[in-house]
Amino acid sequence: MGVTSPLKAQTHSRSFTTKFLPYVLYALLPVALFRFYFHSFPSPLSSTDQLPHGNRIILTSSSSSPSSLSLSREQETANEAPCNYTNGRWVQDKMGPLYNGTTCGTIKEGQNCISHGRLDLGYLYWRWQPSQCELPRFDPNTFFHLLSNKHIAFVGDSMARNQLESLLCMLATVSNPNLVYTNGEDNKFRRWHFASHNVTVSVYWSPFLVRGVEKSKTGPDHNELYVDVVDERWGSDLDHLDMVVLSMGHWFLHPAVYYEGGSVLGCHYCPGLNQTEIGFYDVMRKAIKTALKTIIGRKAASGDGIDVFLTSFSPSHFEGEWDKAGACPKTEPYKEGEKMVEGMDADMRLIAVKEIEAAKASANQFGGLRLEALDVTKLSLMRPDGHPGPYMYPFPFGNGVQEHVQNDCVHWCLPGPIDTWNQIMLQVIKRWRR
Ligand SMILES: *[C@@H]1O[C@H](CO)[C@@H](O)[C@H](O)[C@H]1NC(C)=O
Ligand SMILES: *[C@@H]1O[C@H](CO)[C@@H](O)[C@H](O)[C@H]1NC(C)=O
Ligand SMILES: *[C@@H]1O[C@H](CO)[C@@H](O)[C@H](O)[C@H]1NC(C)=O
Ligand SMILES: *[C@@H]1O[C@H](CO)[C@@H](O)[C@H](O)[C@H]1NC(C)=O
Repeated sequence: MGVTSPLKAQTHSRSFTTKFLPYVLYALLPVALFRFYFHSFPSPLSSTDQLPHGNRIILTSSSSSPSSLSLSREQETANEAPCNYTNGRWVQDKMGPLYNGTTCGTIKEGQNCISHGRLDLGYLYWRWQPSQCELPRFDPNTFFHLLSNKHIAFVGDSMARNQLESLLCMLATVSNPNLVYTNGEDNKFRRWHFASHNVTVSVYWSPFLVRGVEKSKTGPDHNELYVDVVDERWGSDLDHLDMVVLSMGHWFLHPAVYYEGGSVLGCHYCPGLNQTEIGFYDVMRKAIKTALKTIIGRKAASGDGIDVFLTSFSPSHFEGEWDKAGACPKTEPYKEGEKMVEGMDADMRLIAVKEIEAAKASANQFGGLRLEALDVTKLSLMRPDGHPGPYMYPFPFGNGVQEHVQNDCVHWCLPGPIDTWNQIMLQVIKRWRR
């Protein structure tokens, strides 16, 4: 797919009604970024890339743990109010990641930053310190213990894949994943089995969660969403799933026409289509509602339980021009108070948090249905240093700095800050199992 110039898009948008200016502004960047979501890299998983079973990365240094924090950890163990991981700060940590870019064989090329020549590695040495409690390091053995004989599915867009690959890489430090299924362009549907603990991990491509037709060269030049119909590419597998991690957001910013109950509901960023612009917030809310309602309804009918996480919006960090060197140039996290969750990031986050709360209330009448928002918006916003940037391609400055440099300031380097999302997820699972 061709590269859309944001400049061109801007000129174009000036003629567009100012009433929807905020939506238009939000749309500009994603339009420029559209290519990320389509661009395909091979994602090889050859057996030679994998860690031998049981191989572990040896950690040599340890992080400090103030005694006040040990206290709050004990309090949580004693079944006090659960830890709130939403607010906190990034603190330096000598330990570094559990894995590196060569140890799991599942990292999408464009997110394997070190292998693509990123040299500043300071971004690997930070940990999230929640305000009122402690977040332990991810322990793959605990994960396997709690989820043995279970099937976990990541459902959503490329952020779902990003989070899935982080989890796989961390799990691969103690057990060998076998790729048992793959389907779709760019391996959009994949499944691994960890024989050691009979744990199955899947990824389902479903950027809207509901049924949708994606913009394509041969199809429509905008997305089409059916907001009241779940995407059965994952929905029809619900019977087999014990845990679902839903993750979406960025795709809702793109031009789209929305359908509900068989008729057109409206559209977004759609000059020339002669439909009513309705923005994307309500539509995203409807899509989440449809997904959660379907999960709850089907699981309640079958009597099986399920654990559901909804990952909140992950902000991007473009500064200046997206196709120039230095589009996300920071090499350190923002300091506390330096950056607030606001604007679209805040609105998108709130939709996820609220919809999970509403779904919890309706799920309460059935047993075995547990839902939680994985509220990662703030901690992700504070990490402008964690994106591939120009290292989405190998050695982008091999021939000096070119005039045009494509940057990914949306996805996360692996290893990187996104590992923290899974760290928090494991803590919630631990709480549920207690
Ligand atoms: C990655 O980790 C493996 C296993 O600990 C180690 O053998 C290898 O040298 C590491 N590679 C790099 C590039 O650090
Ligand atoms: C955690 O803190 C955030 C921000 O203060 C708040 O919005 C959220 O409701 C809290 N979560 C819970 C479960 O109390
Ligand atoms: C392995 O896990 C699956 C669920 O993912 C379960 O249906 C199956 O019974 C388990 N196999 C054994 C041998 O426990
Ligand atoms: C746009 O839609 C309206 C109402 O449906 C219709 O009356 C009008 O003819 C349409 N205009 C074009 C250019 O299709």
